[in-house]
Amino acid sequence: MERISASLKGKIMSAGEAALLIKSGMTIGVSGFTSVGYPKAVPLALAASGHARELTICVGAAVGEEIDGAMVRAGLIKRRYAHQSHKDMRDAINNGSVAYSDVHISQLPMNMNQRTGPKIDVALIECSAITEQGLYPAASGGSADAAVYNADMVIAELNLSLPEGLAGMHDFFRVGLPPHARIIPITKPDDRAGTPFIPCPPEKIAAIVLTDKPDPPQKFKPITPETEKIGENVVKFLRQEIVAGRLPENPGPIQSGVGSVGNAVLGCLAKGGFRGLSMYTEVMQDSALTLLEQGVFDFISASSVALAEENRRRFYGNIDFFRNKIIIRPQEISNHPEVVRRLGVIALNTPIEVDIYGNVNSTHIMGTKMMNGIGGSGDFARNARICIFATESVAKGGEISCIVPMVSHVDQTEHDVQVVITEQGIADLRWKSPRERAELLIENCAHPDYRPMLREYYEHALRTAAGKHSPHDLEQALSWHTRFLETGSMKEK
Ligand code: COA
Repeated sequence: MERISASLKGKIMSAGEAALLIKSGMTIGVSGFTSVGYPKAVPLALAASGHARELTICVGAAVGEEIDGAMVRAGLIKRRYAHQSHKDMRDAINNGSVAYSDVHISQLPMNMNQRTGPKIDVALIECSAITEQGLYPAASGGSADAAVYNADMVIAELNLSLPEGLAGMHDFFRVGLPPHARIIPITKPDDRAGTPFIPCPPEKIAAIVLTDKPDPPQKFKPITPETEKIGENVVKFLRQEIVAGRLPENPGPIQSGVGSVGNAVLGCLAKGGFRGLSMYTEVMQDSALTLLEQGVFDFISASSVALAEENRRRFYGNIDFFRNKIIIRPQEISNHPEVVRRLGVIALNTPIEVDIYGNVNSTHIMGTKMMNGIGGSGDFARNARICIFATESVAKGGEISCIVPMVSHVDQTEHDVQVVITEQGIADLRWKSPRERAELLIENCAHPDYRPMLREYYEHALRTAAGKHSPHDLEQALSWHTRFLETGSMKEK
């Protein structure tokens, strides 16, 4: 297949010329997910010229330095949807200079299609090929399709460094709007429902910019004895469920959240003796590529293939091997409640902190500072067959307990969280009352340094609270966080 249809070649222009099509106050729907497959040349040209300000950026999940770094530092971004992970964007959100609205991954494209938010003026999409039928994005699906459908014009970056074999790995399906929304015909992770390209009439394409800059490689922290132990506990839990007949011998498909803990935990599945599993997930991270090669996974459906440098080279270098084993979907489908529920996904996400009754904070450090956003954790937690949250029991060298009396912000409620796993052990919260959950979380998951403090708090709350269902002392419930902010440790001196 040709990278670009002959009839479209007349639309090729420089990044600087294309950037001039973007005016102050516009909303840009951007491709990309976890810094994979996002446009780079036009954002850099915008940052250099500074002519367009007060911009709203609407992108499925994190993009890299060119947008969430350079454009932020140039003061061009007024508003940002949805997930992000770049330090400059995080700082701008936390100092109040960028208005950030954190939306569930599956719902951002739905909201764009329902046109409940800002009108999308421009879709800015990185592609591996462009034809008269439509756009073949890079190694992510994200909300690029919703951006293209809803935008007045499309600016495409054709990245010539991407392997031609990427074209054909995607599957774009349009759900449509109620009352005419369609059933999504996916009953297994490898089912295809739509087209390998985003349909786009040629007249909508205003500019094509040729580029060759690769995505930044993903960085993962090395596996530690603690993350290894968390992984072993996840495998132990799954094995127990299989033995008890609550899960089939080949459980799943599996969803694993972004981050170093998720990446490390996934790596333990091989040692757990699993073979022939599948993933229906949002992000295919580093360890999943090796598991695919080893046959631990047969198939992976994801909205982004996010790999460290060496593994990306292996993926692109052996794309013929991987193209029959991976489907890249738009985030509306990879995270859609209908599909997640039907497939019986086992969801594995990382919290920042969990409270003694099973409420989870995934987004806010010490209750006020945004970290990355909720991502897809809410989509999967609510709809999964089994919803697991796995974390180390402590953070910051042991000065923070990740099991706390009350979370300082709630993302996933006690009603969604079914199993909590740390390096200390497993708390299976299913069918348990809040007080039974507190016993399990304190004894099985909290770090021994914090267990007596948690028990003391819980027993005090039980004695003094008016209600004995989820007893709390509202004055003391967040005192651990206050103590950390004042002294640098949650521990009592
Ligand atoms: N209080 C304060 N800081 C905490 C903390 C706590 N209870 N728990 C962890 N942290 C800090 C860590 O110290 C680390 O900080 P550092 O970068 O300064 O070292 C940082 O948070 C990341 O923690 P880490 O242990 O490296 O885990 P991770 O890379 O797996 O990321 C999340 C954990 C929660 C930040 C990440 O999983 C996330 O953003 N989750 C929300 C979105 C989501 O779940 N998406 C997946 C759906 S597909």
